[in-house]
Amino acid sequence: PTVPPFDYVIFGGTGDLTFRKLLPSLYSTFRDGLVEPSSRIIGASRAAMSTETYRARVLEALERHLPAGTLEEDSCRAFLAQIEYVELDALGGSGWNTLAALLDSGNDNVRVFYLATSPDIFGPICRQLQNAGIINGKSRVVLEKPIGHDLGTARQINHDVGQVFQEPAIFRIDHYLGKESVQNLLALRFANSLFDPLWNSRYVEHIQITVAETVGVEGRGGYYDRSGALRDMVQNHLLQVLCLVAMEPPSHLATESVRDEKLKILQALAPITRDEVVQRTVRGQYRGGAIDGKAVPGYLDEPGISEDSQTETFVSLKAEVHNWRWAGMPFYLRTGKRLATKTSEIVVQFRPVPHSIFPGYSSSDLIPNKLVLRVQPNEGVHLHMMAKEPGPGGLRLRGAVLNLSFSDTFKQRFPDAYERLLLDVVRGNPTLFMRRDEVEAAWRWIEPILEGWREFDLRPKPYVAGTWGPSASVAMIERDFRSWHDEV
Ligand code: BG6
Repeated sequence: PTVPPFDYVIFGGTGDLTFRKLLPSLYSTFRDGLVEPSSRIIGASRAAMSTETYRARVLEALERHLPAGTLEEDSCRAFLAQIEYVELDALGGSGWNTLAALLDSGNDNVRVFYLATSPDIFGPICRQLQNAGIINGKSRVVLEKPIGHDLGTARQINHDVGQVFQEPAIFRIDHYLGKESVQNLLALRFANSLFDPLWNSRYVEHIQITVAETVGVEGRGGYYDRSGALRDMVQNHLLQVLCLVAMEPPSHLATESVRDEKLKILQALAPITRDEVVQRTVRGQYRGGAIDGKAVPGYLDEPGISEDSQTETFVSLKAEVHNWRWAGMPFYLRTGKRLATKTSEIVVQFRPVPHSIFPGYSSSDLIPNKLVLRVQPNEGVHLHMMAKEPGPGGLRLRGAVLNLSFSDTFKQRFPDAYERLLLDVVRGNPTLFMRRDEVEAAWRWIEPILEGWREFDLRPKPYVAGTWGPSASVAMIERDFRSWHDEV
């Protein structure tokens, strides 16, 4: 085992995230022999349920959500035996003594309190943990995103949690930072000498970050309708990826060096002022359509969505980082549900060559280089370049792609992002988690956009499910004589 023994207490233990991601990821680390056998997982939630019933539900979730062929009978039985369930009222008094007694059974395990609940009860849960005397010197708390609904609520949550836990014991999770290909960005940028000299606005023309999903709100209507794509995806995942793309090289991979550099980018993001939202942002909301040839309902017909909802399920925007490296160069960000294909990628578009030496080709005929970092699926790196077409005749040029496919190159299993992050909490390594000031800086940048949308009553534009979002998103980038990279 590579991590010390732990007791993982999951609040929101019967929730969607727990069954879909947390428990399958913990199982995978267990099956791979990374977990000490004396470790335990304790699901906590309001639902009345015995540990036996809970284990049966966990088994069901593992069968449904683990990749085919990865659930092994013996390790599964042993994993389930390590799971307990505690019925507990996060706000009231019941259940806390039971939890305290369970944790206090004499072991010296690292205690992790994973708050996979609505953010408005993060503070109250921490206070209850404190009152019940459950927190010891080896305790850590994990906060699921979103941390709050805006800057004010984020600050309040950070303050309340900070009254109970010290900053090094607070792990604000953004699972995009645990994705293999997102971490590979660090390797690409800082373990190769080729890219860094070109990694600035003198050589890069613009950068795109796309996180496109084909799923809809997946039964999370109640949460999603109060959030929307800007809060659900841009405030955290897209901005964190942008930070890793744009930050200066940290002097080493130590936690605070990396987080300091990311923070500088968030602080250098030029505000999109309320008056600029019309030009620089696009909101969309899906209508009925088809995904992979199958009809899907529109957002307003999904369960839990109010029939006149003005929540955006798509957002695209034009950001700028005002610093020496990136001055004058746009970052286009785009994310949405029910889009044409599930794909997340970072596209670095280089500038054209200054002059063509090739007869018959003007410099604009030579397609400028483009580096595509595929985050998911088909993780890899593609470099679009010009090459000579083979043949004895005149010199004919054509675009070609240099392709590094991670799955062809590395034969290992690709762990889910949560596997790495869940164990990093036990190891006490917060490098891939968001620091308090990062979360607040991200909200500070997001807030004027939300205000602008409200002030100008900028309603989301409809788009057909299975397309690339509203045409206004295409128009936004085309106004700058650029286009979205829609390679499938
Ligand atoms: C979550 C969002 O943080 O990320 C979801 O709340 C979204 O709405 C999900 O579907 C996307 O994650 P992934 O790993 O599937 O790209």
